[in-house]
Amino acid sequence: MQDPVNTPLLEIRDLRVSFGTGDDAADAICGVDLSLNAGEVLGIVGESGSGKSVTMMALMHLLPSSSRISGSVRFQGQELVGMSASEMTKLRGSRIGMIFQDPLTAFNPVLTIGQQIVEALRLHDRSLSRKAALNRTIELLAEVSIPQPDRRVHQYPHEFSGGMRQRAMIAMAIANRPVLLIADEPTTALDVTVQAQIMDLLQKLREDLKIGMVLITHDLGVVAGAADQVAVMYSGRIVERGAVRDVFRHSRHPYTRGLLGSLPKLNGGGGPLVAIEGMPPSLRNRPPGCAFRPRCLSAACICAAEVPALLPAGVVESACHFSQTLAENAA
Ligand SMILES: Nc1ncnc2c1ncn2[C@@H]1O[C@H](COP(=O)(O)OP(=O)(O)O)[C@@H](O)[C@H]1O
Ligand code: SF4
Ligand SMILES: [Mg+2]
Repeated sequence: MQDPVNTPLLEIRDLRVSFGTGDDAADAICGVDLSLNAGEVLGIVGESGSGKSVTMMALMHLLPSSSRISGSVRFQGQELVGMSASEMTKLRGSRIGMIFQDPLTAFNPVLTIGQQIVEALRLHDRSLSRKAALNRTIELLAEVSIPQPDRRVHQYPHEFSGGMRQRAMIAMAIANRPVLLIADEPTTALDVTVQAQIMDLLQKLREDLKIGMVLITHDLGVVAGAADQVAVMYSGRIVERGAVRDVFRHSRHPYTRGLLGSLPKLNGGGGPLVAIEGMPPSLRNRPPGCAFRPRCLSAACICAAEVPALLPAGVVESACHFSQTLAENAA
């Protein structure tokens, strides 16, 4: 019997995902371990293609049937890998909510925002009348600071601005009071001012509802103020993780340091921004050993021969052969 107090909200162990078959098979996720406690925010950061979305889609059973998944994903102690489709449908949209980058694709264009949130509410509580669900929907729209919610509830997705649509998607995601919210690039499609407003909203919901959150972003700056823990992904692996302040101050991984070097605030204000040169490898051209090697200024022979394991390095965990020797203060 699991101890509910000490059971993490989400525990991912050795998650592996591959696409394709035979010679065409490629590993998108190569053994990811992650853990999140109730009420905490875990930021997952990495460039496009590093496997952030596939990790979360795997746990939500939203990958195409051509994918192969192994490992373990426990949500409140319950194993999700291998769970039946009907059980998973019950979890999605009730105890686990999701927010995506593009709310337009999440909403059906021919139904009003209200109809869709009412449907989401009634799907998980058949005893709720339409009238009660509509009232609850208006409350939800107000909760995410949509002005005139009693009027806007009857509008269609295209009548909402990008920021308002994102708020509506958040309202739908929290409609059934989930304990876990997965937010995949929730602000990427929005302009900077609206991004900040949406991040403030997520922060407020987290405090009010004590919701645990996985916040996926390609922007390390987004997690700085919003997350407790951060995991940095590169080419299907976690290459560094730890408490946000520790990773920002005491990173022992050249990739994380590269990401930090391209953040204006942390670069000492006026200094030049240092971008990481080159591109991440594609799944089928991943170099042997450390996948970051072709772009790494610290690479040595061993980097081509062995995949570095994620091991404690100072106050963080880092997957670099030289994480023990990298000077702490170079980040
Ligand atoms: N359905 C799919 N079939 C084949 N490859 C996929 C599929 N979905 C994602 N991938 C590949 O998996 C890798 C990780 O993708 P993804 O998780 O979407 O990256 P990101 O970190 O940008 O969210 C990418 O190389 C992507 O091309
Ligand atoms: S293992 Fe080698 S190539 Fe990889 S990040 Fe460390 S130094 Fe660079
Ligand atoms: Mg993605």
